[in-house]
Amino acid sequence: MVDKLDVIIFGATGFTGKIVVEKAEEVLQGLTWGNMQEEICKLENVLSTVGKKTGKDLSQVSITLADVEDEKAIKEMANKCKIVVNCCGPYRFYGEIVVKACIEAGTHHVDISAEPQFIEGMMVNYHDLAKEKHAYVISACGFDSIPGEMGVVFAERNFPGTVNSIESYWENTVDFKDKNCKTLVHTGTWASLIHVFGNTGELIAIREKLTPKDLPRLEPKLKVRSYPHKEFSLDSYFVPIQAGDRDLVVQTQNFRFKNEKKRPIQYENYIGFKSVFVTLFAPLLLAIFSILARCSLTRKVLMMFPNFFTFGILTEEGPTEDNMERQSFEMVFKTKGWTKDQLLSEEPKQQLWTRISARNPFYAMTAVAMLSSAKIILQETDKLPGSGGVISPGYAFLKTSLIEELQKYKYGMRFEILKLEQI
Ligand SMILES: NC(=O)c1ccc[n+]([C@@H]2O[C@H](COP(=O)([O-])OP(=O)(O)OC[C@H]3O[C@@H](n4cnc5c(N)ncnc54)[C@H](OP(=O)(O)O)[C@@H]3O)[C@@H](O)[C@H]2O)c1
Repeated sequence: MVDKLDVIIFGATGFTGKIVVEKAEEVLQGLTWGNMQEEICKLENVLSTVGKKTGKDLSQVSITLADVEDEKAIKEMANKCKIVVNCCGPYRFYGEIVVKACIEAGTHHVDISAEPQFIEGMMVNYHDLAKEKHAYVISACGFDSIPGEMGVVFAERNFPGTVNSIESYWENTVDFKDKNCKTLVHTGTWASLIHVFGNTGELIAIREKLTPKDLPRLEPKLKVRSYPHKEFSLDSYFVPIQAGDRDLVVQTQNFRFKNEKKRPIQYENYIGFKSVFVTLFAPLLLAIFSILARCSLTRKVLMMFPNFFTFGILTEEGPTEDNMERQSFEMVFKTKGWTKDQLLSEEPKQQLWTRISARNPFYAMTAVAMLSSAKIILQETDKLPGSGGVISPGYAFLKTSLIEELQKYKYGMRFEILKLEQI
């Protein structure tokens, strides 16, 4: 019998996939890995380009063909390895066939989807089968939603008492040398985004199935601050962003309540902009985008002109190396709760401030986070909850050393405790 590879990177020829290949030698040290794609020559090009860039000989890396239209080939891929690192999106269209094949083969699966309909839909449809087959399927292991999810895990681990609520404040910093080139993101993300906003209605039925019916009423209730406001010593004005990380943190709390009867943490996520004008304008733009994404005709127009509709932030060519290098992010977490001596019927008296930060968040950090997640699944399977399932990153990696792993790399993440105060 041929030995299985530890890891297969699927979608390795994409904008993100190439960066995942570039980081694989460093993060997957000690593991065997290979690539899969629909066109073999494209893959050979990727390996040769990455090899030249990193100075490593990748000519021996295993490469095979697999098209998402070809179920047999996808099943063969799933049977050839212990975990699939899936960079092939939009996941709404390409993801399910890979997830299903992995589960049936008892192979683990990670991806970097930020599409709640796909992520939560897979939880509803495949969680029981994944448990039965001892396969872990963990989506959103990139910039969405490792910072939010592991930021909450880090804050709770370091809070001396019981947590009632966490609010996170996310700031992105760009310092472009060439002011004419504003590109932050490749258009691969555009189609995913359009379908997320165009199909929000689907989430009602999915969440009805995922939300435990007996969730407790949580007091004091965390209120959303929907107006622009400042926080801590941060420069920006913040407004709520009720998507992405927030959706996954909510699912993590649901998993913990269902399986451990643990009191859920209330969570809100805010995004910051340096100008108050942009802070007011951004939600309006998002509302217009949402309306356009819902109708099939305007959706087609959006698809055709990403550059125009995003003011050049998303382009076909994607960001240059220099633009990626000049991006960084930080997320500050305000965690409120009770001291060890307090009763939960009292007003929470304690507040902890923590921070996570990274450079090149959308691509290099995303690649490192996804590969580190895959490595932890293989090396610390005994620390993951239960014996398999389609679960959120915060629930999956709660007891693992993912936070420590992420801090090892230049493009990993930094976790810091800032201040503990009595209020
Ligand atoms: N969460 C995060 O932080 C984060 C960050 C970055 C990206 N993403 C997500 O990652 C996904 C990929 O983004 P990207 O910019 O890398 O997109 P991309 O450059 O378009 O890459 C898509 C990949 O899918 C492959 N693919 C397309 N059709 C296929 C088929 N029929 N069979 C097999 N493979 C097929 C492409 O192969 P070919 O090259 O052969 O066409 C390519 O390798 C998107 O969903 C995006 O939203 C998430």
